[in-house]
This record gives sequence, C-alpha cells and structure tokens, in this order.
Amino acid sequence: MHLYAFRNYSDQTLTLSSPKTILVGDNAQGKSNLLEAIQLLATGRSNRALRDRDLIQKGKEQARVTARVERQAGTVELELLLRAGTRRLARLNGENQRRQADILGYLNCVCFSSLDLDLVRASPEARRTWLDGILIQIEPIYVRLLEQYQQILQQRNALLKRTGDGTPVPDILEQLALWNGQLARAGSQVMRRRSRLLERLAPLARRWHGSISGGREQLDVHYAPQVQFLADDSQSVQTAFAEALQARQALELLRGTTLVGPHRDEVELTIDGTPARQFGSQGQQRTLVLALKLAELELLEQVTGEPPLLLLDDVLAELDLQRQDQLLGTIQDRVQTIVTTTHLGLFDSHWLQSATVLTVEQGSVLPVLAQP
Ligand SMILES: Nc1ncnc2c1ncn2[C@@H]1O[C@H](COP(=O)(O)OP(=O)(O)OP(=O)(O)O)[C@@H](O)[C@H]1O
Ligand SMILES: [Mg+2]
Repeated sequence: MHLYAFRNYSDQTLTLSSPKTILVGDNAQGKSNLLEAIQLLATGRSNRALRDRDLIQKGKEQARVTARVERQAGTVELELLLRAGTRRLARLNGENQRRQADILGYLNCVCFSSLDLDLVRASPEARRTWLDGILIQIEPIYVRLLEQYQQILQQRNALLKRTGDGTPVPDILEQLALWNGQLARAGSQVMRRRSRLLERLAPLARRWHGSISGGREQLDVHYAPQVQFLADDSQSVQTAFAEALQARQALELLRGTTLVGPHRDEVELTIDGTPARQFGSQGQQRTLVLALKLAELELLEQVTGEPPLLLLDDVLAELDLQRQDQLLGTIQDRVQTIVTTTHLGLFDSHWLQSATVLTVEQGSVLPVLAQP
C-alpha cells in the first residue's frame, strides 16, 4: 500500500503480505495512523478522526491512500483521495468512481483497539457505530441508506427546532407529516439491516463468549430499536415507525427534536440476563468485547468467503494470557493480522518468530533486520 501526506506519513510505500505483521515503535510514531488508513479503505471511516482535515498531513492540501488488495476473487487497486474543503475522490483500478461507497466491500477488516475495550460501557452511539462499520463492509449500499436517513433527520430536526424555540411555523403538522413518511421509509431500511445483522451475530457472539468464559455465563446480544417491530417486512416496519412518530409528536414539538428512529437505537448486551454495562466486572466486559470481535470476524468470513484482515491496535497487552491465547489461537495463520505494540517483549516467542516485524518511526516504516 501507499500513503501520501496521510497523518504523519509523507510518502510511504509498504507491503503487508505476511500472515502476521507486528508494527513496533514508540508512542506517537504512526502505528495507529497506519491501521487507520487501512480502516479508511475498508469502511470509509476512521474511528478517531471526525474530519478529513485531521487525516491530511499538516500543511498539505490533500492526502492519498492507495492499496492493492489480493483476494481469491482477484486483485483490485483501491484509492482514496482526501481533499481539504471538498469531497473525497475514490478510484477503483485507477478509474474515478461516482461515490466513495463504490470502493467499499473489496477490503474487509475487523479493527480491535484499546478503545473498543470500552464498547460495553460506552454510549449507545459507539455500539451503533460498531454495527454500522460491519454493515458497510457487507453491503456498501448501506452507506447511502445511512446518509439518506441522516439528511432527512437533519431537515426534520431543523423544522422541529423552530417550533421548539417558540417560532410559530404555519402548516407545521402538514410539513411534519411529509417528513414523517420519508423518515419512516429511510429509517426502516436502516433498522431492518441492523436487526438482521444482530440476528446473525448474536449466536456467534454467544458461542465465543461461552468458550472464553468456560461456559459459565450466557451472553445475549439484542437489538433494541427505538421503534418496536415484529415482522421484518418493509411495510410493517414503516407502519410501526409512523405510529411511533405519531405517539411522540406532541413531545417532539415541545423538545424541538426527533425522538424516534434508528439514530437512537441501542444494542443490549446482557450476561445471564443482567445488563453487562452496569454489572459486568472489567474482566467480564473485556471477555464480552472479545467475543463480539471474534463473532464479527467469523461473520465477515461467512459472508465474504474469506477471513477479513484483523487489525489489533495496542490491544493484546490489555488482555490477560487466557484471552490472548483464545484470540491468537483463533487467528493462527489463517487470518492475516496486523498488530501494533511498543514492546516486542510482550509477544510469545513462537508468535514473534512467525511474524514479520516492521519498525515505525516518525512516519516511516522500516523492516527490522534479523539480529546477527
Ligand atoms: N494530520 C497530521 N499531520 C501530521 N502529523 C499528524 C497528523 N495527525 C496526527 N499526526 C501525528 O501522528 C502521531 C500519532 O501517530 P499514531 O497515533 O499513529 O501514534 P502511535 O504510534 O499509534 O502511538 P501510540 O503508541 O501512542 O498509540 C503524532 O505525532 C501526531 O502528531
Ligand atoms: Mg496508537
């Protein structure tokens, strides 16, 4: 892959072909930046940057991330151009694409960073972001569905905000009714996909959780949408959505914001029926997150027919030996893995021997020469 003016990389070419790569380096040298570039090509998103401006090297106007991805189905070249103050430009095999989403789905990855260890306790938004990151990779059109929903939501919120501020808006109920139909249509598409994904993920996560916790505890992963629906067909979800909007209309007018919809979805995580967020110990919460990540890996493999790339950012050292073993045992040589660390001493010698070690220093990646 190649990075140009991306974060602290000025111009870096590197090959990641080994089943296991360890990126070693001191703090703030660019290890996470490199994984971030990969995540960007896989999902169009970064879990750290809110704006493209932050991804572009200071003093530069644009950044470019390119990767040649070799998979069973063939080799593709993905390219993303980030430009200050304007849209991104995506290229697939050198050809400009209309949308960024057109290059998604070719590179699949599961990212597991120390930030994820807080997934259980974090806000519902973090769990929605996690779900969305998987859906984007399975079904790139999902990016469009989410964008459409967000646009409608923003416009509806702008209208509600005026009434919430006390500004009299003529025909407010008629205007709202128009937005409601659109919101329900777009929202139900998002909700149905999240619901189906969790239905597939939940049994996998439960099984992994059972095997890490020695079968002593039972994990439940449950989609808790704001709008309850029973049947997974477009019409009944839209109807449920519209009814929920109707029921909260008076409150929405008062509060000046949209209270119903997938932007407020929750993913409930319970262990033996108790919410893990409130009652789980730190160890239990880590086991849970590990189970979710292994389930994510397995699901992406089931869907695409190939194991995704696994990116482990600073996370191995945070897991105890038993959990490390579970994770490394699952990976073996089958799942191409890139790990970051500040100290090689943290790795088991067998793993170290079979891995390619690269040093990251001030935005440069260098091979580590074998000790004579
Ligand atoms: N847009 C940018 N332009 C230039 N440098 C940047 C930019 N964004 C981040 N950096 C630099 O990148 C470095 C951080 O890189 P990164 O987060 O990859 O570190 P790391 O090697 O993962 O460190 P740690 O071990 O602490 O996690 C910082 O020195 C930061 O100043
Ligand atoms: Mg880092």
